[in-house]
Amino acid sequence: MSLPACPAMPLQHAQLCIGLTGGIGCGKSTVARLFESQGAGIIDTDALARQLTQPDGQAISLIRAAFGADYLTDTGALDRARMRKLIFSDADARHKLENILHPQILALVKSRLQTITRAPYVILMVPLLLENPGFMQLVQRVLLVDCTERNQIERVRQRSQLDETEIRAIIAQQAAPEIRIARADDIIQNDGTRDELENQVAAMHNCYLRLGHKNTI
Ligand SMILES: Nc1ncnc2c1ncn2[C@@H]1O[C@H](COP(=O)(O)OP(=O)(O)OP(=O)(O)O)[C@@H](O)[C@H]1O
Ligand SMILES: [Mg+2]
Repeated sequence: MSLPACPAMPLQHAQLCIGLTGGIGCGKSTVARLFESQGAGIIDTDALARQLTQPDGQAISLIRAAFGADYLTDTGALDRARMRKLIFSDADARHKLENILHPQILALVKSRLQTITRAPYVILMVPLLLENPGFMQLVQRVLLVDCTERNQIERVRQRSQLDETEIRAIIAQQAAPEIRIARADDIIQNDGTRDELENQVAAMHNCYLRLGHKNTI
């Protein structure tokens, strides 16, 4: 898929904000946890989306109005499995859901950015960062976590119920790795051991500490 032209922007808020992105199963959540253990502030947009779509979540009334109560569970949360099936085969439905969730997620991210004051920099984790100018405007650098398609498929298969065909179909819907690589400022290649990954994060952390320091001068 093609991506909108949206270069990373200069600072709009106090701290250095790094956008963390990558394809399904490449290691975004693992990398975010490693940055967190180094002391970075973390904003996880997947977690914010889950918060918005839990029972009584802020997005539920709009989802009910747009898709009907059939897309909610008995407890009133978003029925993720059902919605995933729908948006996978129906681009209009996917856009409709994104138009509900993205503005709400963006508003939550902006308010979180104001409250993270003690961390030397912030890692903003957005799976579809490069596809979304609204999120790109909040980051000064893009950090891509990448791995081979074979590792991607193996890791997602071990973690979920999805089979190889389903995983390949999801990968095909996401931006191609070469497009992501061309847009990234920094890349973590996650094809080695967990120790190697930890070392790469530690090296990147030192680099961001220096950049974050410059931003505060
Ligand atoms: N270097 C590694 N070696 C072995 N397993 C790894 C490595 N990095 C990540 N994993 C495992 O691969 C799986 C996918 O990693 P993770 O959940 O961090 O990816 P993700 O990009 O957040 O995925 P998603 O797009 O589904 O949110 C996890 O089970 C994780 O523990
Ligand atoms: Mg994840």
